[in-house]
Amino acid sequence: MAINADSLAQLRGILVKSKRFVFLTGAGISQESGIPTFRGNGGLWKTHDPAKLATLSSFHENPSLVWGYYSYRQKLISKCQPNPAHLAISKIKEQKKGDSWVLIQNVDNLHRLAGSKNIIELHGNIFKLSCIRCGYSGYMDMDMVLPPKCTNCESVLEPCVVMFEEALPQKEWATSIELSFSCDLVFIAGTSLNVSPVNTLPSYAKDNNAVLAEVNPEETWLSRFMDFSIKGSSADVLPNIYNLMK
Ligand code: OAD
Repeated sequence: MAINADSLAQLRGILVKSKRFVFLTGAGISQESGIPTFRGNGGLWKTHDPAKLATLSSFHENPSLVWGYYSYRQKLISKCQPNPAHLAISKIKEQKKGDSWVLIQNVDNLHRLAGSKNIIELHGNIFKLSCIRCGYSGYMDMDMVLPPKCTNCESVLEPCVVMFEEALPQKEWATSIELSFSCDLVFIAGTSLNVSPVNTLPSYAKDNNAVLAEVNPEETWLSRFMDFSIKGSSADVLPNIYNLMK
């Protein structure tokens, strides 16, 4: 897909001048690493029912089924590597050496593997688990019997992934709001912006006159509010922007 060179050059200029910027990413950024998105073309929710697999009530009703789904995803994700989009974000942040953050709905660790610092995991991490009864927290063992039980108190452990009907982790959410109010650029990549409350962050930033830029091969419901809406894949567009900054 042709990428508008003027928009990229303008964005590069804004990035270079920025005092504080945030990336906001979602499932689409990891699509080219081999992890399916939830919505859009080939999205998981086209063939799987989130009400049965990704809600807190479904977890309480049938923890084995929900654990089966998370275990399947964890195994798939553990074979995936960062793609050029994750690497470009890490390099852009390093190049700027300033105040920059990566607010993510991804649960897959790929930004960390790409070397990014200042990552805020808003939807958790699929490799971790915890016990809501005794507070135990640990890492998933891929061969564990499902549903896994807490070794301290025998309760069923929960995956550390935010499900529908659950609140976001409080500290991470509060920091993200603060950053969105105080940054001068939000660079959004690979999210449909369908899921609340994360999809409210661009509005907080806009209230502070921040520039909003989006990279997505498809239109999102917030595309028309963006200052830059670049139609393309994040693994194409983000390395292009980094190359302009070098
Ligand atoms: P979605 O699956 O809703 O959106 C993925 C977006 O990425 C879509 O807009 C695609 O067009 C876009 N996309 C696909 N391939 C891309 C590529 N190569 N480069 C750039 N963009 C691409 O994922 P999220 O917005 O992250 O929550 O969804 C948010 C939350 O909804 C998820 O964390 C998950 C889901 O239900 C839970 O499971 C609770």
